[in-house]
Amino acid sequence: MIYADKIEKKFKEVFNETPLIVRSPGRVNLIGEHTDYNMGFVLPAAIDKSIYFATSPRTDNICYLNSFDLNDTVQMAVSSINHQRKNWANYLLGVVDQIQKLGHNIKGFNCVFGGDIPIGAGLSSSAAIEAGLAFSLNYIFELGIEKLELVKLAQRSENEFVGVNCGIMDQYINIFGSAKKVLKIDCRTLGYEYHPFENEELKIVLCNTMVSHSLASSEYNTRRAQCEDGVRILQQYHSHIKSLRDVEWDIIKLHELEFPPKVWDRCKYVIEENERLLKGCEDLDRDDFVSFGNRMYQSHEGLRDLYEVSCPELDFLVDAASKQNGVLGSRMMGGGFGGCTINLVQDSFVNDFENAIISSYKSRYNKTPEIYICTIKDGTGAL
Ligand code: GLA
Repeated sequence: MIYADKIEKKFKEVFNETPLIVRSPGRVNLIGEHTDYNMGFVLPAAIDKSIYFATSPRTDNICYLNSFDLNDTVQMAVSSINHQRKNWANYLLGVVDQIQKLGHNIKGFNCVFGGDIPIGAGLSSSAAIEAGLAFSLNYIFELGIEKLELVKLAQRSENEFVGVNCGIMDQYINIFGSAKKVLKIDCRTLGYEYHPFENEELKIVLCNTMVSHSLASSEYNTRRAQCEDGVRILQQYHSHIKSLRDVEWDIIKLHELEFPPKVWDRCKYVIEENERLLKGCEDLDRDDFVSFGNRMYQSHEGLRDLYEVSCPELDFLVDAASKQNGVLGSRMMGGGFGGCTINLVQDSFVNDFENAIISSYKSRYNKTPEIYICTIKDGTGAL
């Protein structure tokens, strides 16, 4: 039985009514890592791994949340939302809290959710939960919240309720994703453009280190603070600089000696990654996937050596991929410290790639990496 049907069946068993069913996808990011909170560019796409929500409004004030995968429930009055020790519930409660902070007086609701986005693998299961619930509540209560506002409220719920100071990429692509296209997001203007990503002969293949990125939230917040330190140094001389997005090479070079070495490395990486992404989009427009793939390798080197958010397992997988036939590019994806690598692999080599990666990773780490061959799908929507 497909996941959406399982969720609907469970909902009907518990609540004996017909719910709204919403699919909310995970995401990949082709290039442009740790650039979103520096007001730069990112190039994500929504994928075929998803979380499904079954929801319906109630007449009372209770929100009734059921995690299908954990077989666990939380109930709470919408008027007194507070943090739960069951952490999964916080991703949902933060959304209810933010909707009310926007001035909407919602009633209670029933919700069953679950899906096949691996948790802690860097595929944004948390954004899928936040944006998926925001979309569902907007729909069942007819709140009329616009798409970009849904994105922002989902991000705020992660920042303020879950406590991770994430950028806007994951929630944005979740809502705005479109089948067969990658989305170039300008995280300063919040404007976007789609670039076609259709090549029957090329597959996006993810290799999961099976290392859950537990360091991610504290180190993530540290990287963010280091980038802000760099901006503060430059602002003393150049008041127009509000983020690393505003920084040109010839300006930052003049101040290199004033930067603590780690802060310098972080800033250098971010400036280079934005440039790589812009050139990468030109590659895609010319269908030059070879050049695009090379930029993915360069992105990984920057994340490993300058931004220092990789880990030995990710480096091993990128190195192993680079030695396989038919691989155009490979790099770590998402926040880092575990999770997945993203690889561009020619279709006819995908089977060999999969076998070779599994066997070499297994003999090195005594763990079997999961491999996901992704299809680019639409963003969150009602089924
Ligand atoms: C996580 C965050 C995003 C982004 C990436 C790194 O996925 O949620 O906002 O910063 O890390 O690119």
